[in-house]
Amino acid sequence: MRIGVLTGGGDCPGLNAVIRAVVRKGVKEYGYEFVGFRDGWKGPLEGLTMELNLSTTRGILPRGGTILGSSRTNPFKIENGVERIKENLAKMGIDALVAIGGEDTLGVATKLDSLGVKVVGVPKTIDNDLNNTDYTFGFDTSVNIAVEAIDRLHTTAESHHRALIVEVMGRHAGWIALHSGIAGGAACILIPEVKFSVDKVCEWVESRFKSSYAPIIVIAEGAIPQDGDMITKDQTLDSFGHVKLSGIGEWLAGQIEAKTGKEARTSVLGHIQRGGSPTAFDRVLATRFGLHAITAIHDGDFGKMVALHGTKIARVPLESATAQLKLVTPDLYAEAEVFFG
Ligand code: F6P
Repeated sequence: MRIGVLTGGGDCPGLNAVIRAVVRKGVKEYGYEFVGFRDGWKGPLEGLTMELNLSTTRGILPRGGTILGSSRTNPFKIENGVERIKENLAKMGIDALVAIGGEDTLGVATKLDSLGVKVVGVPKTIDNDLNNTDYTFGFDTSVNIAVEAIDRLHTTAESHHRALIVEVMGRHAGWIALHSGIAGGAACILIPEVKFSVDKVCEWVESRFKSSYAPIIVIAEGAIPQDGDMITKDQTLDSFGHVKLSGIGEWLAGQIEAKTGKEARTSVLGHIQRGGSPTAFDRVLATRFGLHAITAIHDGDFGKMVALHGTKIARVPLESATAQLKLVTPDLYAEAEVFFG
């Protein structure tokens, strides 16, 4: 069998660990050959490949990013995109695909599966917002990066008696903000799922200052004020219709300064959260996902995504992963709220 592998969407730490596990088990246990497709769905669309074998996947376990490259190419937005992918797969003798991606990449995989392409999905995203899996790999690494930043910001905020705002990623789901805010002892955590009141945030800021401590506010890029809108960088859309976010932290700093008279500054963590080496947790999760994905292919169990359920790796229908986003629930947010102010 010849298996194609691709990584699509925003990169995240652990992608290389998946690729390595897929190839290692596929070659050693099943005698498969592999073709690496470059830059997400652009690879099979344009026939862009690289060699994937035991030697090209050596030493990549701790490396961030993806040796295959990534893109946000949407074949359903390109004329004859699906036909071109099918033709290229047939020409190259590809029997099945392992698609490693988030909402968008796996959304394309779901549609291709229904059109007869044999595909197994692996859930990736630092946002942890894919449905039907307890965790996606990459999330733990980004939370740890954010917590390190928060720890550092605490000491400088105290020295200067400032409020410091940390803007983290999270377009629709506030998982990174929630976990890093709890672990970092934030004065409040603002997430896209719950519209926030600027006055309430100012109260929490004042109360933290009263206890002679400086407030750290963790805010997800997609958080929305009660009487405002999501703040975007510009109006351009990518091929999946997403706007570029960022700016809500800066906006909130202005509001806090105006309403409390206290100095407030913002640090936007941005792509730092996506770069560099994966944590041990993400290396193990990504490795297990890769091993189970290639076994699903071997079993002919296509149209599935590997998923973490408790401590076990399960197989779930691909469409269930992207049918809806996994959002922070009110009970989890309530746990964090105990520490606000
Ligand atoms: O999809 C994950 C994500 O990290 C989002 O939280 C964020 O909005 C987006 O990627 C930004 O990605 P890029 O800058 O690569 O378009």
